[in-house]
Amino acid sequence: MNEDAPRAGIGAAVPRVDASDKVRGGARFIDDLAFPGMLHAAVVRSTEPHAILRSLDPSQALELPGVVCLFTAGEIPGKNVIHVIYDDQPALASDRVRYVGEPVALVAARDRRTARTAASLVTLDYDPLPAVTDPLEAVHPGAPQVAVPSAAERGNVFNAMPLRKGNVETGFEEADVIVEGTYRTGYQEHAYLEPQGAIAVPEENGGIAIYGSMQCPFYVQGAVARVLGLPLSRVRVVQSATGGAFGGKEDVPSQIGSLAALLAWKTHRPVKLVLDRKEDVLTTSKRHPAVVRYRTGAKSDGTLTAIEVDFVYNAGAYQTLSSAVLWRGLVTAAGPYRVPHVKIDGRSVATNTVPCGAFRGFGSPQVIFPHESQMDRLASRLGIDRLEIRRRNALRVGDQTSCAQRLEESVGIAETIDEAGRLADWPERLRRVEKTNAEGNRIRRGVGIASVVYGVGLGGKAPFLDKAGAYMKLEADGSIAVAVGTVEMGQGLSTALTQIAAQALAIPPERIHLAPVDSLRVPDSGPTVASRGTIMSGLAILDAARKLSERIREVARALGIAERDAPARLAEIAQAFYNRNLDPAVEGWASTPPVHWDPKTGLGNAYFVYAYATHIAEVAVDVTTGETSVEDYVAVHDSGRIINRQLAAGQVEGGVAQGLGFALMEEIVETDGRLLANGFTTYRIPTIRDVAPAPKVGFVEALYAQGPFGAKGIGEVPLMAAHAAVARAVAHALGTEIEAYPLSPDRVKAAVTPSAI
Ligand code: MTE
Ligand code: MOS
Repeated sequence: MNEDAPRAGIGAAVPRVDASDKVRGGARFIDDLAFPGMLHAAVVRSTEPHAILRSLDPSQALELPGVVCLFTAGEIPGKNVIHVIYDDQPALASDRVRYVGEPVALVAARDRRTARTAASLVTLDYDPLPAVTDPLEAVHPGAPQVAVPSAAERGNVFNAMPLRKGNVETGFEEADVIVEGTYRTGYQEHAYLEPQGAIAVPEENGGIAIYGSMQCPFYVQGAVARVLGLPLSRVRVVQSATGGAFGGKEDVPSQIGSLAALLAWKTHRPVKLVLDRKEDVLTTSKRHPAVVRYRTGAKSDGTLTAIEVDFVYNAGAYQTLSSAVLWRGLVTAAGPYRVPHVKIDGRSVATNTVPCGAFRGFGSPQVIFPHESQMDRLASRLGIDRLEIRRRNALRVGDQTSCAQRLEESVGIAETIDEAGRLADWPERLRRVEKTNAEGNRIRRGVGIASVVYGVGLGGKAPFLDKAGAYMKLEADGSIAVAVGTVEMGQGLSTALTQIAAQALAIPPERIHLAPVDSLRVPDSGPTVASRGTIMSGLAILDAARKLSERIREVARALGIAERDAPARLAEIAQAFYNRNLDPAVEGWASTPPVHWDPKTGLGNAYFVYAYATHIAEVAVDVTTGETSVEDYVAVHDSGRIINRQLAAGQVEGGVAQGLGFALMEEIVETDGRLLANGFTTYRIPTIRDVAPAPKVGFVEALYAQGPFGAKGIGEVPLMAAHAAVARAVAHALGTEIEAYPLSPDRVKAAVTPSAI
């Protein structure tokens, strides 16, 4: 980062607007909030992976002093469902449990400890059913039926999605070489600092307010309205300061909010439900474990001719977001490359395990590790430089994606490859590494490359979600209050949006104040996912700013203030608004260019725009202990115009750390539907000692004309490239193929070929 970077304007390293509160402890996370008369909730959960629930005995729990009530499914006033996409997941299981940790009943008590003790004293009587936890077994005709039939395409297959472009037979016939691999990745836990939590507060008019740590206030609103049987207008959702989410607070807060709401409805008191770390790790969504079979054909010059991909995601017991996650896997599986003939089949499968959901990258990392491994296999078979084979196949403006979408603009993948090569000193670095390795040390070095494409927004799977509102008000002193419907969760969105508003109004960012997201203030703006925050809320803010600027200009004219002086004299103009009873508030709205996608063929305009990146990692692997350390790192992104370079670089650094964890160490072993992890001693994530020295970060800005100042989105992309770059570097160091994460010391040692020692 350039220390002298400008501190104002688009691109500038404007300090985070939430920094001071977060650093000084002023930010109030959900567990910092309390309401008069508030009760605490705990959840009684299934201890069986699959069983008929016969009865529940709360007598011991109810005897505990301080316990206020128990709540079971029969008392739910609305629908017994956690509404996400398919309504298959009950709020509380009533007759059958499908995974260990599934909520069965709730306890309210005067304090959290009592509530938790009481929950543990509720005894459940089950008739166990045969369980299936492996997705490949779950698709067999004789497997126990896990999926709620109405939510599945057949048996335990929740979703089966095809993509057919061209004719793969022809494509493979045209190929000079064909490489194949089967790749496996496991769970990844979000490990956000702040666990899941919400407070439900009954309101005077028979409505309810939900405060909570979340990404998608409007999802929570919808879910709570359904479970309580209330109109949406009686459910108000306010996001509290959110200590990280990474996709894990996309669907789960609908459950947490609904459970708190049920107890608040019954007791007529505010109710807080906050999970402890163990409960959070064991019972909330994770990245889908995946098995991906991948076949790639290419000409002798490296030109791709065909890919055939078959992949299965373990969805867990309920649908939640699996169809969206699977879809992204499907449309991302070809990578940022031109492939004329494509055949892809993806399935998400129900098993008796915790429901999986969104995790930074949304189903794409599971296919990125394969598509990048395949590129390296091809390069090695054909004797082509690994950077070069990517460059030759990289999508360019005018090309068609695997979905046969013609890319009209803003395709920076080739530039990211070139710039990453430059920053990494390619191919000199490669030569250096290979020379040291030739000396036969026990420490072997490796360099890995990963190039990725990422569709920004929800795209053709859920085009109705790609919209956003903004509310903007000129206060009488010339300061500006802004409200949007997408949330800050650590990624820096509030600051980026403040900069966009400041630039649009031509006033300093300090004059602009973004309110926490409150469903009462803005229309449904879709979820804060899919790296869409900057582009969607940014566009809504631009629309609002345009409307407000028009009014400001009019009043300025009446006051005899020249147009160019209006921003500097905004206080004076604002005072005139006030004195003359003029309307100082506007609403902005954004919806995106149309996308359409055909579920039968998998073809169409999957997304309105794509972000790209290329990462290069250098690792050192100790072949005797199997330990890997990341020694050097380069990350180059095309996310269109960068709104704040420092924050964008921060997203890259964090994503690289998370990707490194996914590739090298993060793992949850599952046996008979039980996850063997309960916190950060058993689930290892990278610490500061594991992360690479600060990555060298570069941006190539292939501007997107329809984005705010040309911006696309960056949030998820760094993680998506990082795990693959690290994994490919390990494969290079060992001189062998690698087909499963994590590359823990044991796995690395097992992969070491005798010649490598
Ligand atoms: N960065 C931080 N610090 N904390 C987070 O929870 N979530 C990621 C990414 N970066 C996350 C983060 C995910 S999963 C998404 S979808 C994007 O941020 C969402 O924010 P954006 O739309 O503003 O990019
Ligand atoms: Mo991010 S996985 O889209 O919340």
